Amino acid sequence: MSESATNPAPVSVLGLGLMGQALAGAFLTAGHPTTVWNRSAHKADALVARGATLAASAGEAIQASPLVVVCLTDYDAVRGLLDPLEKELGGRVLVNLTSGTSQQARETAAWADRRGATYLDGVILALPQVIGTPEAVLIYSGPRPAFDEHEVTLRALTPTTVHLGADHALSSLYDMASLSVMWGVLNGFLQGVAVLETAKVKAAEFAPFANQLIGTMKDWLIAYAAQIDSGEYPAADATIATHLAAMEHLVEESETLGVNSEFPRLVKAFGARAVASGRGEAGYAALIEHFREPAEGATR
Ligand SMILES: NC(=O)c1ccc[n+]([C@@H]2O[C@H](COP(=O)([O-])OP(=O)(O)OC[C@H]3O[C@@H](n4cnc5c(N)ncnc54)[C@H](OP(=O)(O)O)[C@@H]3O)[C@@H](O)[C@H]2O)c1
Repeated sequence: MSESATNPAPVSVLGLGLMGQALAGAFLTAGHPTTVWNRSAHKADALVARGATLAASAGEAIQASPLVVVCLTDYDAVRGLLDPLEKELGGRVLVNLTSGTSQQARETAAWADRRGATYLDGVILALPQVIGTPEAVLIYSGPRPAFDEHEVTLRALTPTTVHLGADHALSSLYDMASLSVMWGVLNGFLQGVAVLETAKVKAAEFAPFANQLIGTMKDWLIAYAAQIDSGEYPAADATIATHLAAMEHLVEESETLGVNSEFPRLVKAFGARAVASGRGEAGYAALIEHFREPAEGATR
């Protein structure tokens, strides 16, 4: 069935937790005939009041639409729910917006393929409250033709809808990479707050300074990315040796002040390893060589 902005295509949503309800609600707002199913049926009440059709079973929901969006707690729940529904899944495009790892995404793609379904893996970089607005970011990976076929419907969830590529792993890997950036920035901020609190500086006083630095660093990332992709790390600003001296100050300061020094010591360990391996005169981006390696003796 072809879709267009004036003839909204039907869609089914399986899983009506906090996120699934927001997804189904956005499809309804955009005018898509929306069939819903949830293990605990009462969570569909508000959506049904808005015009959604409640399916009596997950299989019935899948059969109602060519596009099936699933958003459950984890991949085990998805596979547990859908495994017995091979007949219903055949010929459907299954979009899985459940969070998981890239390995789970690839395995689920192969599993869906064996059932005759076309699989798109997706990640929601947003809270339920902003689904349906440009603030929500949704990223997808899997076969481009299936994404193109249903892009208009998927854009009901947000205009910030991105197809990353055919490899089903990509959406989960971007999710992990984004979380890494998020925790890196947040941990750095919290360490800074802990240091400043020893001088009775409030976190709210530091936040504008931190924000200004984050703004400046956006340009650094672009320049460092070019260096990383080329494999050349000229020190256009500061060498790693210069960074290492400042890292040592942060460790010493944190220990002297009696605040936690684990994060500064981790940062310093990377700088020290780079200097020890002869990269002291290189630019900061050369540390990527150490991030690419597993840590010695690392266990899960
Ligand atoms: N909430 C967020 O801010 C957010 C943001 C980004 C991504 N996500 C991801 O979205 C997914 C859903 O999150 P959520 O916030 O909606 O979680 P939630 O409110 O806890 O909802 C979980 C959903 O999974 C269903 N479920 C769990 N196990 C099931 C099973 N064995 N069989 C059938 N259904 C099962 C639940 O059904 P019942 O209602 O019957 O229990 C419910 O519909 C997660 O992977 C989460 O990481 C969430």
